[in-house]
Amino acid sequence: MTEYGYAFLGLTVMVAVFAGILTFTLLRLVAGVRDAKRRMRQTGGSEVAMLSGALQEAVSKLRAQEQAMSARAAASERLSHQIVESLTAGLLVVDRDGRIEILNPAARRLLDIAADPVGTSYDVLLQDAAPLRDVIAEALQGANPIVRRSIQIAANGAASHFGVSVSPLGSGRDHGVICLFSDLTNVVELEEQLRLKETLARLGELTAGIAHEFRNGLATIHGYSRLIDPSSVPATYRPYVEGIRQEADTLGQVVTNFLNFARPERLSFAPVDLGRIAQRAADDLRQELPAGTRVDVSGDFAPTDGDDALLRQVFGNLIRNAAEACATAGLEPRIAIRGVIDARGVGRITVEDNGPGIPAADRERVFQPFFTTRARGTGLGLSLVQEIVVMHNGRVSVGQSAAGGAAVELTFPASGLPASR
Ligand SMILES: Nc1ncnc2c1ncn2[C@@H]1O[C@H](COP(=O)(O)OP(=O)(O)OP(=O)(O)O)[C@@H](O)[C@H]1O
Ligand SMILES: [Mg+2]
Repeated sequence: MTEYGYAFLGLTVMVAVFAGILTFTLLRLVAGVRDAKRRMRQTGGSEVAMLSGALQEAVSKLRAQEQAMSARAAASERLSHQIVESLTAGLLVVDRDGRIEILNPAARRLLDIAADPVGTSYDVLLQDAAPLRDVIAEALQGANPIVRRSIQIAANGAASHFGVSVSPLGSGRDHGVICLFSDLTNVVELEEQLRLKETLARLGELTAGIAHEFRNGLATIHGYSRLIDPSSVPATYRPYVEGIRQEADTLGQVVTNFLNFARPERLSFAPVDLGRIAQRAADDLRQELPAGTRVDVSGDFAPTDGDDALLRQVFGNLIRNAAEACATAGLEPRIAIRGVIDARGVGRITVEDNGPGIPAADRERVFQPFFTTRARGTGLGLSLVQEIVVMHNGRVSVGQSAAGGAAVELTFPASGLPASR
């Protein structure tokens, strides 16, 4: 091989080595670029994934919070609805324009309202309960609360005493009102009964003192008059002796009445049938009552715990009063004793007659001891009736019968199943 041959060979080898190095470097470069690209792709994808994951987590947290909040709102709405529905006091909410927003079941029951009144004017809704309407009107006009005012309204066919509190909703004149009221009838009646019992007890003590002194003197007069033998006195004086004896007997009866009123015998309570007691009182008086007197006992009588003998006195006094009033007016007495049991289970008994009746002005006074319009009356009959009825936790009032005569109404608390006749 020539020199040129060697040189050419060396050059070729060098070019080949150089080309190999170049190719290797290029290949590495391409692989590096591909690697870098792949890495970039990988890194960029995981960031997007991270971002979207975080976003999803935030959205689902927000959704859970929203669900919890609406569940809490629904629960508190349910609770306030339950509170309004189960309140035993009447609740009435009126907006500033006087429209009913809430009238709970207790309020409907107390006011005897069946339809749903939401949206109607309180003025129209409460036209039969004027005192309550007036309290709400006052609260809507003023800005001050009205606390525990006592009003009386006619509901469910009877007069009821309500305790009412009204507060403005919000402040200023531009507001609605929230009104709470409850039926205090039982409390008021109990207070009245207690007051009456105390008054009667005081009167009783006074009467007992007077009657006691009276009885001692009377017993002496009575005793001396019995010692006089009518046959031993001249005939002209005999009527005087008889007169003294008779008057002493009558006064003795009056004193017994006083003492009965003052210290009624010990009560012996047992279940009684008031219809039967009324009938027995009428039978007992048959001989005493004016000829032709009719006493009818009818209706349903609530079974009551009571003292048979004292209750007979009640009906006896009422029948006697009725017969006396009719007879004085020259009328044949027609006396009707009727029993009914009202919606609340209270037994009501009316004793009605066809006499002249009791003037409206006297209807309260007739129960006062010693009030009488009869020449020989003691004025203790109706006081005794009231005393005995009150002892039985009952009530008595006087009105007018359909025939224009007197109507005495007695109410007794019931204690079991009704007795019909
Ligand atoms: N049924 C009736 N009709 C009309 N007036 C009546 C009737 N019942 C009572 N009164 C009036 O009430 C008054 C009081 O009655 P009350 O029974 O208390 O006394 P009194 O009958 O006068 O006397 P007494 O003590 O003898 O009963 C009577 O005097 C009478 O004026
Ligand atoms: Mg009488």
